Amino acid sequence: MTKVSIIGQGYVGLTISLFAGDKFDVTGFDLNHKIVDQLNLGNSHIEGVASSKLKALIKKNHYRATTNGADIANSDIVVIAVPTPLTADRKPDLSFIESACKTIGEHLTKPALIINESTSYPGTLRKFIKPAIERYSSAALNHMYAISPERVDPGRTDFNQRNTPRLFAGLTSEATNLTRDFYSEFCDHLVEVSSPEVAEAAKLFENTFRQVNIALVNEFAQISHALGIDVYETIEAAATKPYGFMKFSPSAGVGGHCIPVDPSYLAAIAEENGAPATFIRRANQVNREMSKYVVDRVATDCGGSLVGKSVLVVGVAYKPNVADTRETAAELVIDELRERGAVVQWHDDLVDQWRGEKSAPLSDADISIILTKHDNTTIKSILASSPYVFDTTGKVYGATSL
Ligand SMILES: NC(=O)c1ccc[n+]([C@@H]2O[C@H](COP(=O)([O-])OP(=O)(O)OC[C@H]3O[C@@H](n4cnc5c(N)ncnc54)[C@H](O)[C@@H]3O)[C@@H](O)[C@H]2O)c1
Repeated sequence: MTKVSIIGQGYVGLTISLFAGDKFDVTGFDLNHKIVDQLNLGNSHIEGVASSKLKALIKKNHYRATTNGADIANSDIVVIAVPTPLTADRKPDLSFIESACKTIGEHLTKPALIINESTSYPGTLRKFIKPAIERYSSAALNHMYAISPERVDPGRTDFNQRNTPRLFAGLTSEATNLTRDFYSEFCDHLVEVSSPEVAEAAKLFENTFRQVNIALVNEFAQISHALGIDVYETIEAAATKPYGFMKFSPSAGVGGHCIPVDPSYLAAIAEENGAPATFIRRANQVNREMSKYVVDRVATDCGGSLVGKSVLVVGVAYKPNVADTRETAAELVIDELRERGAVVQWHDDLVDQWRGEKSAPLSDADISIILTKHDNTTIKSILASSPYVFDTTGKVYGATSL
């Protein structure tokens, strides 16, 4: 049976492991011992990835997790699914990819197809991953290289690995063909593009499109408020146009692993090549400054000063119905509130602990600010949590809205 090793067992890596596990012998490699131990017991740590499926694959001997690089030695296919965050100064951080390349280079003992699913800028496969793996390999194994950027949307049930079209391209036609064979086992719609760089750029452009449109609607929310117009009603009105308009909703900012991060990868490579990325940079700024706008609005409504006021931030996950807090806008909002002297706690029905703090009860505040509303957090309970409730989600009727 074809042996597939997947480097990184997070949202992307575990999801792909379980789809691939139906047809292949899958080894999930991760540096995190706790995650690996739990996975080998059949316990999924990813929402939307069922422990029952994991257990079934383990029982069939189609899946096992490991922290030992030697276990990937005789792989036919290796998929890279490790984080690609930003550095402290918001530049691309390829250190996790570098470390994955080290594992691959040091341990593979025969030629393999190496596919990158991690999001990065055009040229990463050709100019970073291939040379890094070759540098770490003690023998010239002539691996094949391909890219297939991941499009999974955690928590989403209508689109999954099978029905979400998947872009792919190899550095050689043989790599392209083998990549098509691999994904066609569990994806119904494969879209071959002419080079890895096109696939890498398309992935970044998809998320930049969202980032820029979210910034636009966030700016529009501010304009609407200044003009005394209801932003939500206006967006719904515009959305009745059957063509040429796509609806986006305002918020306290963007969160998650992708939208606040990926556009900066595109901007960085653009600027490195002498192309301006002013639009992308400005959109980032508008989204990041929404936290300040929200706190300004709340302060104005509450008499100007927030000093000593108890503020409850409701929902710190970056989107509804997931427990994921990566890059959440709640961080900027809470920091801004604390800088202005507010006494801040947060409540999230899906997040117990975050930044060393625990979720507080949904009650007894002077001010509540809703950043994310999970389905099981009721409007009634939010409205009862304080005398003044500010809603950035557009879902809590009865609260003051953006
Ligand atoms: N989460 C999403 O919705 C999503 C969607 C599309 C694309 N992506 C992209 O996919 C990539 C992975 O994202 P994710 O959400 O799965 O990240 P994640 O943080 O959920 O998981 C990454 C895993 O990789 C492990 N890891 C880190 N370095 C490692 C190494 N050197 N070797 C082995 N394991 C290592 C971590 O321990 C972690 O378990 C990123 O480039 C991301 O931008 C993510």
